[in-house]
Amino acid sequence: MKISINSFIQEQDKSEQVSTEIEKFQTNPRFEFVTKLSEEYYPQQCVDIFNKYSDRRDFIQVGIGGSALGPEMLVSALKKDMKRRIYFFNNIDPDDTNQLLESIDLKNSLIYVVSKSGGTAETLASFAILANELVKSGIKEEEFKNYFVFASDPETSQLRELGDELGITTLDIPTNIGGRFSVLTPVGLLPALFAGIDIHALCKSGLEYGHSLKESQEFKEVTNTFLNHQEQGYDQTVIMPYSSKMKNFAYWFVQLWAESLGKKKEDGSRIGLTPIPSYGATDQHSQMQLFMEGPLNKVMLLIHVKEFENDFRLSNSFNHPKLQKLGKYTLKNLMDSEFYGTQKALEEQKVPHITFEIEKLNEQGLAKLIVFFEYLTAITGYCLNIDPFNQPGVEAGKIYSFEWLDNL
Ligand code: PA5
Repeated sequence: MKISINSFIQEQDKSEQVSTEIEKFQTNPRFEFVTKLSEEYYPQQCVDIFNKYSDRRDFIQVGIGGSALGPEMLVSALKKDMKRRIYFFNNIDPDDTNQLLESIDLKNSLIYVVSKSGGTAETLASFAILANELVKSGIKEEEFKNYFVFASDPETSQLRELGDELGITTLDIPTNIGGRFSVLTPVGLLPALFAGIDIHALCKSGLEYGHSLKESQEFKEVTNTFLNHQEQGYDQTVIMPYSSKMKNFAYWFVQLWAESLGKKKEDGSRIGLTPIPSYGATDQHSQMQLFMEGPLNKVMLLIHVKEFENDFRLSNSFNHPKLQKLGKYTLKNLMDSEFYGTQKALEEQKVPHITFEIEKLNEQGLAKLIVFFEYLTAITGYCLNIDPFNQPGVEAGKIYSFEWLDNL
């Protein structure tokens, strides 16, 4: 993966601090989002489930936050099995739930209920609805083990206890890997497998690249750039892949960056880098004006995919000057021209931007991007003196919503 940094501010050298945090991180149990990728056990659990249920037409994932965004990102970027339908129950909108229920072939589905904590209300609610629907269609509770698979924390999870009671297999989400860092655990690997994605290649590439970051000068420079810009008031981060299939990558990054780095410190001060999801070329016609000429408070992360699977000639014989000009090129030429044109304009406007270039949107390229951003999030958080792995603000909301229900 090629990375290039375009910064227009005077930067202080923070490489010593960054290197210290990287060094410390190697022995931090939270680094397991990389080290656990070496365990064959990981993909194997998923392969066993896949072999057992590979005849199912639909795969349904129930989960929210980190238990949905990563898997959705993987599936939309790399899905190869076009026959199997993959659905996500990732919200509790009753109308959307109804629409999903009308689309799925429930008795011909495998339903994957994912909750690290095992107690998230939204996920449990969708589980209850799907269980009720199965019962309505004549499936008995004793047969649930043939329709559901769970994933949860190996130790402290009431979902796991329920799974044991019902004879439902529960896959492990390692204790030290929180939701938003869990895409390359069974949380994302099982749906990926059902989508025809090569999960061994994902894990291998993620592992190798994750370890290489320790010595990566580029990684240190990117972190340095973020820390310097944060100090100088650039507190927004735009993530903009030039690829429709990577639109969900932007949403996955948003959760990772927002939930990890938006924190109240012990002294009461608040910190955070607000992520803005975007994708090219589409959002050049939506947000780009703001990025170009709005306040200089954003660092942009651009992702460029060098090769696409398909291309189209734009040749035509229409009597329209611009169509005639386009006629000499292909769709890929146009996509590249929009990307490089934007890059040049950002330079002119002195908008800081970092470009990540992958050869192809495949398992290797995507795994590198995933691990790079996870690692960047962790090290940036530690350099900012916050815990990037907790989310006390989210927890409080969960408690208060149950309190509200109790008062109904
Ligand atoms: O990143 C996180 O930890 C959170 O966003 C969780 O993924 C989200 O709250 C869902 O939690 P759980 O997987 O425990 O149901």
